[in-house]
Amino acid sequence: MVKRLILTAIAAVFFFLQFPIHNATALELNEKTRTIPLAEDGQETTLSDQQLANGNRLFIRECTQCHLQGKTKTNNNVSLGLEDLAGAEPRRDNLLAIVDYLKQPTSYDGEDDYTEFHVNVNRPDIYPELRDFTEEDLYDVSGYVLVAPKLDSYWGGSIYF
Ligand code: HEC
Repeated sequence: MVKRLILTAIAAVFFFLQFPIHNATALELNEKTRTIPLAEDGQETTLSDQQLANGNRLFIRECTQCHLQGKTKTNNNVSLGLEDLAGAEPRRDNLLAIVDYLKQPTSYDGEDDYTEFHVNVNRPDIYPELRDFTEEDLYDVSGYVLVAPKLDSYWGGSIYF
């Protein structure tokens, strides 16, 4: 009888223990956190789980080495934090602006062409690592840059793997 009570108590503890763990994961990656600004005009878009997984994978492959935790190695004044992105000219705190940056990077004030200084898809001769990036890949990795700050612990690391 006592043994059965103890077993029931243990079972109950395990039963309740699993809730906070499940909730934490579900709360972080939900429709709200996957919804981000698409363009400068205020349009938004919601990334699918698949798009975000692809963006996460590509970010780890090509960006984390310099942008771990959204910081920027060698020039952290120009980080991937939302405030820094918003302060650029033109502002870069939306998905299409980051896609554009990965095609045609420019200095923070928009004045200088950085295609020779920052990875991009238009100079495969200098940056062969982005040679196989499709238009979807650019979209997904740019989307990840805007979702990741909301999932602090995963910034530059893995949400999925
Ligand atoms: C070899 C290091 C390096 C790699 C790899 C790299 N970056 Fe960068 N990134 C930088 C540096 C340095 C800057 C700041 C440039 C400047 O001074 O304007 C920067 C700036 C940026 C900015 C502009 C930030 C702002 O606040 O305006 C974006 C967006 C960006 N990187 C995205 C990416 C993405 C996405 C990848 C992966 C596909 C990537 N970077 C890979 C070094 C790197």
